[in-house]
Amino acid sequence: MKRIVMSAFAGAVLLASAPAFADDAAHGKAVFVEKGCYACHGYEGQGGVGLKLANPPLPAVVIATYIRNPTGEMPPFTSKEISDADIRDIAAYLVTVPKPPKLADIPLLN
Ligand code: HEC
Repeated sequence: MKRIVMSAFAGAVLLASAPAFADDAAHGKAVFVEKGCYACHGYEGQGGVGLKLANPPLPAVVIATYIRNPTGEMPPFTSKEISDADIRDIAAYLVTVPKPPKLADIPLLN
């Protein structure tokens, strides 16, 4: 009984916070595309020329630290180009990227 009450509570919290979270993630995805991150990191942050950023998702602080002072091939992005709030939204978007299926779950490969 206690468990049911707890999960109902968790569900209510999730529902209550869902719209704001979805907006942040949607905006983060828009920034990710608009600023060209997708061109090197893939639309879902799956990696390409650039590293994988999702699955597991990188936290905003790691993204902010790197994009302001990249040390390799990546161009820098100043806070005028991408605000800290936009970076938090990008991080929120990366959290929503679904995990790829396991190979064992793809019938064609078995
Ligand atoms: C021109 C290609 C290119 C673009 C555009 C680009 N990146 Fe990158 N990114 C890279 C490459 C390549 C690396 C690997 C390190 C390096 O060479 O700088 C990287 C590394 C990173 C890292 C470090 C990852 C880690 O695991 O340490 C983060 C975070 C990152 N990019 C975020 C972004 C974001 C956010 C954007 C958009 C604002 C973006 N990048 C745009 C090419 C790109």
